[in-house]
Amino acid sequence: MYSIYSLTPDIVWVGADDRRLERFENLFPLPNGVSYNSYIIKDEKTALFDTVDSSVHSQYMQNVAAALEGRQLDYLIISHMEPDHCDCIKDIAAAYPDVKLVGNQKTFQLLEQFYTAELKDRYVIIKDGDELSLGKHHLKFLFAAMVHWPEVFVTYESTEKLLFTADAFGTFGTLSGNVIDDECDFKSKYLEEARRYYTNIVGKYGMPVQMLLKKAAALDIKMIAPLHGPVLRENIGFMVDKYKLWSTYTPEVQGVVIAYSSMYGNTASAANALAVMLSQQGVKNIKVHDASKTNASYIIADMFKFSNVVFASPTYNLGIHYSMEFVIREAAAMCIQNRGYSIIGNGSWASQAGTKMNALVQELMKNMTLIGEPFEITSTMKPEQYDQMQELAKAIADSL
Ligand code: FEO
Repeated sequence: MYSIYSLTPDIVWVGADDRRLERFENLFPLPNGVSYNSYIIKDEKTALFDTVDSSVHSQYMQNVAAALEGRQLDYLIISHMEPDHCDCIKDIAAAYPDVKLVGNQKTFQLLEQFYTAELKDRYVIIKDGDELSLGKHHLKFLFAAMVHWPEVFVTYESTEKLLFTADAFGTFGTLSGNVIDDECDFKSKYLEEARRYYTNIVGKYGMPVQMLLKKAAALDIKMIAPLHGPVLRENIGFMVDKYKLWSTYTPEVQGVVIAYSSMYGNTASAANALAVMLSQQGVKNIKVHDASKTNASYIIADMFKFSNVVFASPTYNLGIHYSMEFVIREAAAMCIQNRGYSIIGNGSWASQAGTKMNALVQELMKNMTLIGEPFEITSTMKPEQYDQMQELAKAIADSL
């Protein structure tokens, strides 16, 4: 059975929810699933915007056929060539033999790398700013390289004022029927996952995102149609403001995320003591994560959200505990910067973790300010170190 949703009388969502995939890109847990969005405009000509992952192929082909109501498909607009959006291109091309594929040079280079060159005679190769009329609907293609791959472009439909944004403004989480943001409590249902999606998928590419925001600011936009998560209608300004912060690596709130690794609970105990002291110092926004238990994607999202981070780790094989080293390297890969950071190192002999965490942060990350003295414990934190940790808590609180 098909499940489609009309955004307007001529524009139909034909995507599908995936509740089975365990990890997005085989890295990021999906406790709430994910949607793969695709849209059809029906006019004198018909156009399909992207396809979906092969996991929802059957549902998708039924949706496209139902939305077209027996009509042929004239164009497939390929905004992004990552396989979660283009795995059904060949199926669409086979089912609709007259369909033309719209993309740029890089789109087709990737299409041939992943799939086939057999569709060459169907290519319509576009340049930045090119336009395509479907009848009363007019499309303008705006390149958005590295949001999130080099071939990405967004499409502005000027009659109904929709911006099809590829990965930008997407979120993890299925739609479960509420295709448009104002049909659900968007902020409570999606904001955390929108942040985790952005920061882990697109977070590295802040400058390209800012360039896209600049292009979008010149447009009158009534709806944003991303490739994952709900269509934005009510929360466009809210999410654009979030993107401005995230893409410039500006914290959303003054607060502290404490990430620790701990083998036997002693480093965790020190991290918990610091959290309580921070609270006593008046810090309202505190989040504590066990890096061995919590997937790094959640910690990265909180590092984008908060102004300060504390890294706490025992020494392991004369280095940093692997779960903490992964968090620091992942945060650096996502270009986390402009944060205050503090260090809690632990060691039972030849203590190295504190020194090496500090060195790694300084080596890999930009504009990171060390707050307080690195705090060292030997196997366990001792009561006589209480005052020293209070000083660290005060230094962090004073820095907010
Ligand atoms: Fe959802 Fe970059 O693909």
